[in-house]
Amino acid sequence: MENETIQVTSLTPRIGAEITGVKLTEPLGNQQFQEIHDALMEHSVIFFRNQPVDVHQHKDFGRLFGDLHIHPGSPPPPDHPEILIVHADKNSKHIAGENWHSDVSCDAEPPMGSILHLWEVPKSGGDTLFASMNAAYDALSERMKEYLDGLYATHSGEQIYRGRYSNDDTNMVYPKSTHPVVRTHPITGKKSIYVNKTFTTHINDVPREESDGILAFLYDHCAKPDYQVRFKWQPHSVAFWDNRCVQHLALWDYYPQVRSGYRVTVKGERPF
Ligand code: SIN
Repeated sequence: MENETIQVTSLTPRIGAEITGVKLTEPLGNQQFQEIHDALMEHSVIFFRNQPVDVHQHKDFGRLFGDLHIHPGSPPPPDHPEILIVHADKNSKHIAGENWHSDVSCDAEPPMGSILHLWEVPKSGGDTLFASMNAAYDALSERMKEYLDGLYATHSGEQIYRGRYSNDDTNMVYPKSTHPVVRTHPITGKKSIYVNKTFTTHINDVPREESDGILAFLYDHCAKPDYQVRFKWQPHSVAFWDNRCVQHLALWDYYPQVRSGYRVTVKGERPF
């Protein structure tokens, strides 16, 4: 069906679309919200240009999609616990999201979506890669789909968050959860691969060597360019991705330049 209030331009047949005709600095009408929601469901990650949202407008946009998530480790800016700071400069030792992941998949109810607004970007580089886990799942052999069916895996925040943040203390307990290796999207009904290099430590109830081998295969498979879209940021671009069916990776090829913005993350449900 044609959209009435926005224009949606698909960027690849499998994932990613650019949205125009909307100002995220202004309240959205119901129809506009519905069309943006539907574009996200269809394309899994959507991009907007020239959206100089302030922190309140950014959070208001996120709240249209659900309650906002608070990150289990990363210290927020004052008065905005729901904001994740995404920042890199010449003093950075790490950046957020350098390896393939689905945001905070170590949570029992991992976030449904993340909305990143960058206001300062390097002259070139600093792209984000997004990969469709529906497309990756669909491309598996029927034999592999049967093998993965009913398996669960453990996702842990410990090995990624410990020692990383200024507020880290030894009493901090980072989330650890068990999720199905293949999850079903609650709205589209599509299946996707739900293990990732950052948070998944092992597949449960199989020998560790088998788990390591299967995960290595799945990580290589999920990282194939065939399922990806690559986003080139400009100041005040916004990307909104569905963590239930997308993994992403932020490239750090621009050191020592600055790349800076805020992420609002929308709460999700227990994967099934
Ligand atoms: C993240 O949310 O993982 C960071 C993504 C990015 O900085 O492009």
